[in-house]
Amino acid sequence: MCGILGYTGERQASDILLNGLAKLEYRGYDSAGLAVLDGGEIKIAKNKGRLKVLEDRIKSGCGISGTCGIGHTRWATHGEPSDVNAHPLWSDDMSVVAVHNGIVENYREIKNKLAEHGYKFYSQTDTEAAVKLIDFYYKQEKNPLKAIIKAIQKIEGSYCFVLLFKDFPNEVWGARKDLPLIAGQGKGESFLASDVSAILQDTRQVYYLDNMEIVQLKKGVVRFFDTEGYAKPKELSEVTWDMNAAEKGGFEHFMMKEIHEQARAVKDTLGSVYHSGRLNLADMGLSDENIKKISQIYIIACGSAYHAGAVAQYVIEDLAKIPVRIELASEFRYRAMPMDKDALAIIISQSGETADTLAAMRRAKENGIKTLAIVNVVGSTIAREADSVFYTMAGPEIAVATTKAYSAQLIACYVLAVQLAKVRGEIDDAESERLIGEIQKLPEKIDEILDEKERLEELAQRFANARNAFYLGRNIDYAVAMEGSLKMKEISYLHSEAIAAGEMKHGPISLIEKGMLVAGIMTQKNLYQKIASNMLEARSRGGFLLIVATRGCEALREEADFIFNIPETDEHFAASLAVIPLQLLGYYVAVARKLDVDKPRNLAKSVTVE
Ligand code: F6R
Repeated sequence: MCGILGYTGERQASDILLNGLAKLEYRGYDSAGLAVLDGGEIKIAKNKGRLKVLEDRIKSGCGISGTCGIGHTRWATHGEPSDVNAHPLWSDDMSVVAVHNGIVENYREIKNKLAEHGYKFYSQTDTEAAVKLIDFYYKQEKNPLKAIIKAIQKIEGSYCFVLLFKDFPNEVWGARKDLPLIAGQGKGESFLASDVSAILQDTRQVYYLDNMEIVQLKKGVVRFFDTEGYAKPKELSEVTWDMNAAEKGGFEHFMMKEIHEQARAVKDTLGSVYHSGRLNLADMGLSDENIKKISQIYIIACGSAYHAGAVAQYVIEDLAKIPVRIELASEFRYRAMPMDKDALAIIISQSGETADTLAAMRRAKENGIKTLAIVNVVGSTIAREADSVFYTMAGPEIAVATTKAYSAQLIACYVLAVQLAKVRGEIDDAESERLIGEIQKLPEKIDEILDEKERLEELAQRFANARNAFYLGRNIDYAVAMEGSLKMKEISYLHSEAIAAGEMKHGPISLIEKGMLVAGIMTQKNLYQKIASNMLEARSRGGFLLIVATRGCEALREEADFIFNIPETDEHFAASLAVIPLQLLGYYVAVARKLDVDKPRNLAKSVTVE
């Protein structure tokens, strides 16, 4: 996610902000900017690209002096990375200037309303709509607190804002919902930051803001308000983490931090296309007319993105009744396959730069097939070249092994499946709403699973010296097994294979040895008994049976060596829950083996060569 900062005190704000933003660089960003309030005037410097570019510009003359300011590193979500879309963004007369993390889901509605009042928009961002909404209320109220309160009651989504008001020198304001914002207290100075690591060099005395709280900074004074406008007392906490731990949000590794960010990634990805009770995929070339014409879907991707596509294959075929082929990009690009002109190619990629995926997408385009990319990195090559894009809202992923981006990809696929099914008349409005309701409940279920992670940590000790593992499943559970197995092998270097359970007896079963980990995924009721039989065959040859099953599944209750139950959900979406314990298991085995979890050997985060 983006990094956000605010400062007011006696020192030059630009120095503090540049130093603080540098501490947030590890999170990934595509542009940076600051605003400083000085003598009733707000000056802004911002650009696409590295913080160093901004720093050089500021230090070589684009003087921006003053002791009160805000700063930002942006990871694009709405609007490509560019100078214009970089934060801060401002109201037309520069009364209100803001930086923002998160997503304003109803920004289109806000823009339309404000346009009726004469507002014009210069960027492609959702943030500009929010800044101008605050400005709209500020013009009426002449009071920052009242303006922020009114605006956040209208804004849907998850966000944190840090703001300057031209008429209020030496003050910084902030508000948050579902994204972190902390206030720091120093001597004669105060801070706001999205991440404690940004201010740790200046202070360890912090306040944690609660949802829908508003904060006002003055030099050395921090005050909090609720949405009624009443002041709220708050307790100061002392941060005891070192810098390294702070960057990882207190987790030992980025991978574990990102595993914990999955509920948020799921929520934001759904929220980016579903609000006010409606799915909005019109920007993705998916008009009703286009959807009705689709004869066939090719899903093309590599690695984990391919595994997300494998889940999607089952979900789309079952809900929308459209035939789906899932293709490895590295194979597809060299296939001489006849392709149907009315087909849709769905390209899935976190980075949007994977060489094979890009080449495969170009091949689909050469064949005259429409391409829809599901991509996490805004402005990446795949996003630019695809006919249309569905951006996942996972935020930057630092650990090489993907977790939250995979989870966000699943959500994008589910949403597409529901929309395709609805438009083609395979499900009615009520069923579509029920399915979306089930997706909305996934975040809290993911967190529920994470509450039990210690059980998997214990289990992992047992396999610290193991050499081989099998992951079995059928249909969606097979797709999950593929992802679970990859998570295990890529970070723990324990050789593991995912096997469509029915294939065991056609060869792989000969590999089973005493004590070998055999994980069975069981989320599809009609297949419980089928997988159970395959698992029992493994058990009678000495396999250690780990079952990841939906609560209520009685199969193998007596025979399994370890059962991890996941909450119930609509079976189409069970992959989002079943994958979590498997990510955790891979992680804990790698930790038990004392390996470099975030940077496994021989792997790169973005595979830009063939
Ligand atoms: C595994 C992993 C890789 C990627 C694959 C595709 O944890 O991260 O398998 O999924 O390299 O990368 P993207 O999604 O960037 O195209």
